Amino acid sequence: MPLVSMRQLLDEAAKGGYGVGAFNVNNMEQIQAIMEAARETKSPVIVQASRGARAYSQDNFLYHLMIAATEVYPEIPVVLHQDHGNSPETCKSAINMGFTSVMMDGSLMADGKTPSSFEYNVKVTREVVDAAHARGVTVEGEIGCLGGIEDGHGAGLDGLSHLTDPAQAEEFVKLTGVDALAIAIGTSHGAYKFAKKPTGETLKIDLLIEIHKRLPNTHLVMHGSSSVPQDLQDIINKYGGKLKPTFGVPVEEIQRGIQNGVRKVNVDTDSRLAITGAIRKVFAEKPEEFDPRSYLKPAREAMKQVVMARMIAFGQAGHAFDFTPASLEEMAKSYAS
Ligand code: G3H
Ligand code: 13P
Ligand code: ZN
Repeated sequence: MPLVSMRQLLDEAAKGGYGVGAFNVNNMEQIQAIMEAARETKSPVIVQASRGARAYSQDNFLYHLMIAATEVYPEIPVVLHQDHGNSPETCKSAINMGFTSVMMDGSLMADGKTPSSFEYNVKVTREVVDAAHARGVTVEGEIGCLGGIEDGHGAGLDGLSHLTDPAQAEEFVKLTGVDALAIAIGTSHGAYKFAKKPTGETLKIDLLIEIHKRLPNTHLVMHGSSSVPQDLQDIINKYGGKLKPTFGVPVEEIQRGIQNGVRKVNVDTDSRLAITGAIRKVFAEKPEEFDPRSYLKPAREAMKQVVMARMIAFGQAGHAFDFTPASLEEMAKSYAS
């Protein structure tokens, strides 16, 4: 089937009370890992590409790999989503390329670093909503700023510096008409989220609950949701890596989020850790190997295992065939009405 609307996937998730993992990709092996995990668990899928991923893959390679994914796994509904679009131009270029969902991250200025004003955020997000909905494409916005920095994107703050204000979130949704809303509740991008297992003081699920009460019909998005599992850290460090001790977002906390309106859960770091650990292991144990497949196959398998575990934990497993995906034209008509 063709790439599908994220709005429909998230509406289905809301009906079923589950969350959908949104996994970042840069290359073929990562796409294959996610699609295999989806087939095995019968999951609907969100694949997302950052601006860095689009540049790395020269756009066309990534897009055509995604088309290959729809051909090889025709039974799986797949969304292709622009992660952290920094400007309306980035989002529009994704839409023109064939992405079925875009994030306009107007919480930061177009430099991807400087926190913006509420007015700026509303203006750029509204512009993207108008352009996207006319073509049936879904829009995610962000209010409050995530912590951390990835590939130059992010304010470089800790997770608690720019938490989402619930009243502002409500106003933002009213003014922009976004389909999904990323909120800042203490998480941050990358491996170094928390110095110790998070508590209610550092990971504010109560704030999430308050936002959900105000916006019961808006699909909430948790960014920075890698769990940074100890076993994946240990594999990397055992085979020559130098990760510092760190804690991610416990899966149980994500599940609490899902019980309270979170429908999209962004995961990148856990896949990166799984891939790196598997490659380091082959390099350490079989230094005579030089065929890239000897380490890329275990890397792909390691990522598949993490993605499968998350699909099961988030509840999307078993839901791939619950609905008939609407075309983007049908989605555009429903937005217009
Ligand atoms: O937004 C953060 C994701 O982990 C993407 O990271 O910009 O390094 O591709 P990236
Ligand atoms: P992690 O770094 O926790 O995987 O977060 C990824 C993310 O939020 C991508 O937008
Ligand atoms: Zn993010």
